[in-house]
Amino acid sequence: MKDNTSLLKERNEHIPQGPFNVHPIFARKAKGAVITDVEGKDYIDFAGGIGVNNIGHCDEEVVKAVRDQIDQYIHTCFHVVMYEPYVELAKRLNSLTPGSFPKKTMFANSGAEAVENAVKIARHATGRPATIAFEDAFHGRTLLAVSLTSKMKPYKFGFAPYAPEIYRIPYAYCYRCAYQLEYPSCELHCAYALKAFFNTHISAEQVAALIVEPVLGEGGFVVPPKEYFKVIQKICQDNGIVFIADEVQTGFGRTARMFAMEHYEIAPDIIIMAKSLAGGFPLSAVTGRAELMDHPQPGGLGGTYGGNPVACRAALAVLDQFEKKQLLSRAEKIGKTVLERFKDFHDRYPAVGDVRGLGAMVGMELVTDRITKEPAAVLTKRLVDRCREKGLLMISAGTHSNIIRPLMPLVITDEQLERGLSIIGEGLQEISRM
Ligand SMILES: Cc1ncc(COP(=O)(O)O)c(C=O)c1O
Repeated sequence: MKDNTSLLKERNEHIPQGPFNVHPIFARKAKGAVITDVEGKDYIDFAGGIGVNNIGHCDEEVVKAVRDQIDQYIHTCFHVVMYEPYVELAKRLNSLTPGSFPKKTMFANSGAEAVENAVKIARHATGRPATIAFEDAFHGRTLLAVSLTSKMKPYKFGFAPYAPEIYRIPYAYCYRCAYQLEYPSCELHCAYALKAFFNTHISAEQVAALIVEPVLGEGGFVVPPKEYFKVIQKICQDNGIVFIADEVQTGFGRTARMFAMEHYEIAPDIIIMAKSLAGGFPLSAVTGRAELMDHPQPGGLGGTYGGNPVACRAALAVLDQFEKKQLLSRAEKIGKTVLERFKDFHDRYPAVGDVRGLGAMVGMELVTDRITKEPAAVLTKRLVDRCREKGLLMISAGTHSNIIRPLMPLVITDEQLERGLSIIGEGLQEISRM
């Protein structure tokens, strides 16, 4: 088998630089929360394929379900010959997602594709053109999705013109409040600012949808105050705007609830899911109020591969495993451990400017100065690299690339979790001395 160096050389020769790589290693196999590279070195996985492997790598029941499905049929295209796993999964998601109203679900292949479909449905149902998105949001890289995404480099730079009729407001990023206010004395100014926005940027009756992540993922694990989404949702309701929750990264148990919006007691009009939905198979879902979902005409939604039967079977097995392995309470426990440890790092290392989290979605923001809060992107990259050298795979996040965002599989053992956190501690100590 080829080693990392020779594979990297071939990768650079045959694959463009656009599809980026965080770590210069190639996988040989992966199980649970451990990835083994082609040179036989084991790494504890705190990245989970960017939040895709909540269920763990190669879960036995998921593998079995996939094998069973492959033995029967792999692809017929749901639009040509229908199949039960699509229907079964839609049924499960309609009852699992928050909200007791009638719902319907359609499937696509990626988070970005689900985002596109959700916005299309909202536009069709309301007959309005505009969408409101947030600063520091990430919704994907296809043209509409990247237009909704906030971060310029590397995501948007050079790809203009963007999709029209997108308007952006600040998120409830309390550590870096856009209005220089403090919670709770701010009285949620950032949420109520949406009302004023309708006078100054776009009138409410032209807005089809507002799309928001319950906790910013790529934006750096930013957790809004408890009452924030109630205010935003009420303003949407008062103005006939479809409230879309992008749960692509928060979804499927990461925050110790199946969906992060449950923490906020919100039932969105439409929920977008992807990533950990199918344990590594490309699958995304759009679940929403039946009357909205049914609005587009037959043929207006869909795609050749959307809701592939193998991916749907994998997702059904993921749902079973979540229950069987009680992964929501495991996420709660992991979150507590990580938060405690990150708080300890905050006490010990001045580079750790902020620590925050919801369930197992816990972030640590690195700064060069705690007063100015200057983002420490170089330091963050150094920490990620140092951790890899010590056997831990991590990824960073944030508009300023200065946030550590662990996305370990929820099946990680206590020992692996402890070892991973110790490596981060050692790494912080080393880079703080540099
Ligand atoms: C919140 C959110 N929405 C959408 C996407 C896009 O998903 P995909 O990369 O599958 O297109 C991501 C991916 O990171 C995400 O985190």
